[in-house]
Amino acid sequence: MPLVTTTDMFKKAYEGGYAIGAFNVNNMEIIQGIVNAAKQLQAPLILQVSAGARRYANQTYLVKLVEAALIDSELPIALHLDHGDSFELCKDCIDNGFTSVMIDASHLSFEENIALTRKVVDYAHNHNPAVVVEAELGRLEGIEDDIKVSAEEASYTDPAQVEEFVTRTKCDSLAIAIGTSHGAYKFKPGQKAELRFDILEEVARRLPGFPIVLHGASSVLPQYVDTINKYGGSMPDATGIPESMLRKAASLAVCKINIDTDLRMAMTATIREYMAEQPSHFDPRQYLGPARQAIQDLVTHKIVNVLGCAGKA
Ligand code: G3H
Ligand code: 13P
Ligand code: ZN
Repeated sequence: MPLVTTTDMFKKAYEGGYAIGAFNVNNMEIIQGIVNAAKQLQAPLILQVSAGARRYANQTYLVKLVEAALIDSELPIALHLDHGDSFELCKDCIDNGFTSVMIDASHLSFEENIALTRKVVDYAHNHNPAVVVEAELGRLEGIEDDIKVSAEEASYTDPAQVEEFVTRTKCDSLAIAIGTSHGAYKFKPGQKAELRFDILEEVARRLPGFPIVLHGASSVLPQYVDTINKYGGSMPDATGIPESMLRKAASLAVCKINIDTDLRMAMTATIREYMAEQPSHFDPRQYLGPARQAIQDLVTHKIVNVLGCAGKA
């Protein structure tokens, strides 16, 4: 099966009250861990590549690894650009086999966001084959690549703007800010984890049937925080989004849930533990194998307990 867009996946997810996992990929072991889990559970999948991942791994290698995953798994897989920050970057990905791109112009004014998003949509939709576009309205706190968005700069999505934004841009899905954030420190110590479900519900009321995306949706699982801290790491006060909230979001209009930090932590915790317990081992396969298995276990957990997309391929 060739790469697919997210159109059909999102339609079924919206109607079925579940979400598709969008996992960030940077190397072969990460891709294999994710795909092994999805294959076993027959779950549809979005593999996403950030600008940083392109710089790290070289886009061509990542595209070819994803093509290998298609052959190996026969699953519906969408290849998505995460946080594209320019028309040129989106165009390059569209021209090189991606089936979905995000244009993240959420830091621009409303009018500038609309103009840039529409430019990408026009190019993507007229491409042969057509590519789908995710846009963002509202701004998440946290660190993406080289950009750090402080709590003061972050802003919730204004539901009053969404109909005009979607109508004028013709985007295919919309990322909104309801209190999630990127990275491993989502809530301050002592701060209660809270998401603005009232905003999500109002957006869904104004955009019936339209797929909503949740970025910054890692849960920062205690088992990985504890292992990292036990084996020489230091992640005090790491916090994530409670899984019950993600399940609720998935049952509503959220069709795509973005996860990167949890993958990083699963991999790092496993490698730290391995290195500490086997200090004389030096074959990378000895620690990358367990790291790949940890990613597979994590993604299995997400598909079954958070996303609800097992058996939906
Ligand atoms: O939201 C951003 C993702 O976690 C990707 O991170 O830009 O460091 O690859 P990255
Ligand atoms: P996390 O940092 O919560 O994993 O979010 C990832 C993300 O939104 C990628 O776009
Ligand atoms: Zn993101």
